[in-house]
Amino acid sequence: MGQKEGMKALKGKTVILGITGGIAAYKGAELCRLLIQEGATVQVVMTQAAQQFITPLTFSTITGQETLTETFASDSQPLKHIELANKADLFLVAPATANIIAKFAMGLADDLLSTTALVINCPALVAPAMNVNMYAKTVVQENLSILKRRGWKIIEPEEGFLACGTSGKGRLANLESIVAACRQALLPSDFEGQKVLVTAGGTREPLDPVRYIGNYSSGKMGYALAQAAKERGAEVTLISTSELPPPPEIDIVRVQTAAEMLAAIQERFSECDIVIKAAAVADFRPGNMAEQKIKKGDHKELNLSLEPTPDILANLSKVKEKQLLIGFAAETQDLLQNAKKKLDEKNLDLIVANDVNRKDAGFGSETNVVTLLYPDGHKEQVPKMPKLEVAHRILDAIRTLPGFKERN
Ligand SMILES: Cc1cc2nc3c(=O)[nH]c(=O)nc-3n(C[C@H](O)[C@H](O)[C@H](O)COP(=O)(O)O)c2cc1C
Repeated sequence: MGQKEGMKALKGKTVILGITGGIAAYKGAELCRLLIQEGATVQVVMTQAAQQFITPLTFSTITGQETLTETFASDSQPLKHIELANKADLFLVAPATANIIAKFAMGLADDLLSTTALVINCPALVAPAMNVNMYAKTVVQENLSILKRRGWKIIEPEEGFLACGTSGKGRLANLESIVAACRQALLPSDFEGQKVLVTAGGTREPLDPVRYIGNYSSGKMGYALAQAAKERGAEVTLISTSELPPPPEIDIVRVQTAAEMLAAIQERFSECDIVIKAAAVADFRPGNMAEQKIKKGDHKELNLSLEPTPDILANLSKVKEKQLLIGFAAETQDLLQNAKKKLDEKNLDLIVANDVNRKDAGFGSETNVVTLLYPDGHKEQVPKMPKLEVAHRILDAIRTLPGFKERN
């Protein structure tokens, strides 16, 4: 897959979504909607048991495609399973019962879904969902191992409260994780073997035990970068001040201040291949943190004395060896001049210039508009797009840097 095609992995792709007979079958309807939102065409295939839980009509209505349930239903399309498999870019079964997993593992083909599974020539994923004891059974685990060995991706169920009244591992993975796994299956693994460290969010510099000096950074851009790098095969650590839940399968280290962020990076820096500093780090912090809450009545006027925070990028650029160092410049004026200055002064490999005056870009927004500046002086304007797509564009740019080393 060429670069930039990876930005919207599911756009224009045909996903065969198998729905099987478990309580979680109803969640398949929402999953359809999420896949369609990503630009995919979704063709649902239901087992007989699945139709006990939710009707084909629900899926036909959401997908705009007739939901298929029978191998031998139509004289005009007798080889439906072959046709289906040929047009599939991705084969996903969610929820997958213990029964369908066993059929896939053994190569049984006694309904449309299992027959199609034997014909497909595209990435295949299953998201098991079942009772905790059922999931723990050796036979179920062995069947999943067989599928894994054959290159299927297993989207692990979550621990939690199950419909059968018990608690434990067996609940269908959350739908965002399933969609992320689909994107990952279609994207190139061009960051496989890379250790990527991303920082996200605005730092909080304490003033007293209940107050801090902070900024409006939400952490969304950093989270999008962490997710995009993960989707392309990287091993990702996210150092974050943000309270957003971490993207699936990403190590998160939570910090508050610039000093804590620097320490967390320094601890991991020697092992990293790529460091992307998307966090909005405070430039100044209160010189002294008050031990007790500052009271209004105690002061007519309050003057704060601020001191500079440690300069994280300057610290890293001094010790950097093989690492690629990517910075962000969030500016309200002279965007490109300020970004270029930072790129040169901090010895960066790339800088992402971010105009934080715009409503549709920068802090807190779902979209971003950035300019990428390279050390050799060339620039690339990235138009307004969702932050995850911007993140993929930044990764595309990192791939072209002279210091980028393929590791797979
Ligand atoms: C109420 C009810 C709930 C069920 N939930 C699950 C489930 O969550 N996971 C599972 O593997 N089987 C579950 N089963 C059993 C399957 O429906 C049964 O094994 C069926 O043969 C699966 O067929 P299929 O794999 O073709 O869809 C459930 C059965 C009933 C009656």
